[in-house]
Amino acid sequence: EQIEKGGYDHFMLKEIYEQPSVIKDTYRGRLLADKGIIKLGGLEEYIPKFVNADRIIIVACGTSWHAGLVAEYIFEDLARIPVEVEYASEFRYRNPIITEKDVVIAISQSGETADTLAAIKLAKQKGAFVYGICNVVGSTISRETHSGTYTHAGPEIGVASTKAFTTQITVLTMIALKLAKVKGTISKTDYMMYLRELEMIPAHVEAALKSNDDIEEIAKVFKDATNFLYLGRGYNFPVALEGALKLKEISYIHAEGYPAAEMKHGPIALIDEHMPVVVIAINSDHYGKVVSNIEEIKARKGKIIAVVTEGDTAVKELADYCMEVPKTPETLTPLVTTIPLQLLSYHIAVMLNKNVDQPRNLAKSVTVE
Ligand code: G6P
Repeated sequence: EQIEKGGYDHFMLKEIYEQPSVIKDTYRGRLLADKGIIKLGGLEEYIPKFVNADRIIIVACGTSWHAGLVAEYIFEDLARIPVEVEYASEFRYRNPIITEKDVVIAISQSGETADTLAAIKLAKQKGAFVYGICNVVGSTISRETHSGTYTHAGPEIGVASTKAFTTQITVLTMIALKLAKVKGTISKTDYMMYLRELEMIPAHVEAALKSNDDIEEIAKVFKDATNFLYLGRGYNFPVALEGALKLKEISYIHAEGYPAAEMKHGPIALIDEHMPVVVIAINSDHYGKVVSNIEEIKARKGKIIAVVTEGDTAVKELADYCMEVPKTPETLTPLVTTIPLQLLSYHIAVMLNKNVDQPRNLAKSVTVE
């Protein structure tokens, strides 16, 4: 097992560090930035299905559901296709309205999650076209879907999902860009820019990983907190949810993810000097608004740990601690902002002596309802 961990203390850490290379594996041979080409074998012949769809329904569970939420922003923004993201377990029992004009995307690392599989079967019965995004080759979901794309992240052993999440987002971004190009909802210049920027993500992730030692120091300060709040807006709202989930899963500390602007409708009541608030405050359309949120938290003595863009000044002045990530277009930011949050939960869990790779009560793939 030590050999399999490749010199890392835990599989989770190894998998976090594998992200630059597995993201590259995910787009290798599929993304040719210089030529402006995205080619996904499973997608090509079904492009008309997507382009003519009334809407895309994404079904998934856990971390894969969070990747689906990120995709909702990407698909609607770039390809202008309405998207609904559903917990597979809720979708299947709701007598959902699905027609032949819907495209369903099922996202699953393991390809074995029982609720996701049941949702796929239901969607197929109702005549929808179902596309799978799985990591495990030959898994049940990859066989039960009409077509799909593998993430090629390699085996993920840590129960808390890390590299599966970023590679799922990589695949979903490629699909959205391809559809946007076919539909003409993106300019040629923007399309080419996104392709080049996507190719730079592995280097950006590598750079984000360099903050590991600083993040370990931050973890030392907050490891005994009993509650955490995670805030983000837009593309980074799902990242806040995922950050909170990672912390809950492996450290057993209660954490909640929230859209930053919703803070005033409830969570703000919880803020005092004992509440660390992780805020994703990168350069974006919402930057000014997020800075105001940070000021509100500070006024109530909350402790702020911010994820900021390299070179940031305003948030750095306000926050107690900062974790830097390189600059990338807002659409692609979840691929980098996720990294410090993975490391933060990892270090806290290690310091609390928790079983990082196999947290209590959780399973890597949930094949029962
Ligand atoms: C379990 C795992 C999570 C995972 C979820 C969905 O709860 O512990 O890490 O996100 O299942 O799994 P899937 O394999 O369908 O992505």
